[in-house]
Amino acid sequence: MKILMVCLGNICRSPLAEGIMKTKLPEDCIVDSAGTISMHEGEHPDKRAIKTATNHNIDISKQRSRPITKADFENFDKIYCMDIDVLADVVSKTKNEEQRQKVSLFLEVLEDHKNAEVPDPYWGDMKDFEKVFQLLDKGCSKIAEKLCLKS
Ligand code: 4NP
Repeated sequence: MKILMVCLGNICRSPLAEGIMKTKLPEDCIVDSAGTISMHEGEHPDKRAIKTATNHNIDISKQRSRPITKADFENFDKIYCMDIDVLADVVSKTKNEEQRQKVSLFLEVLEDHKNAEVPDPYWGDMKDFEKVFQLLDKGCSKIAEKLCLKS
């Protein structure tokens, strides 16, 4: 199973989602993340995201931001988008129904969060990052349960 987490800048939400998801899946599952913009390409995650992950014993400090590519739609089985704008952008880059089927809103996995978005903590503070961590942790647990335990 190959999973791609996608947000806008790939420095806050999707790096956290990648780091959390990796702790919940077997070694042979591949997890990566990307952004819909290339503004932060090559940068490490936001310091506050790194600190929040560290508080939960997860190291995301070595990740580097990168924009989503055409190849990602071939290479990954599931592409999870952090909010509705990101979803619309990612869907607009798909070239057929098979690729479209791989793409969904991350929080849709939680029954009580239909159409819900992972809020962007970029303009917020450490409390916002912790809230995002908790939301991502819930979603990642559910994804792991759905995707991997059945195989
Ligand atoms: P992310 O957060 O999409 O969760 O990585 C953001 C990062 C950068 C910007 C916005 C959101 N930005 O405007 O540069």
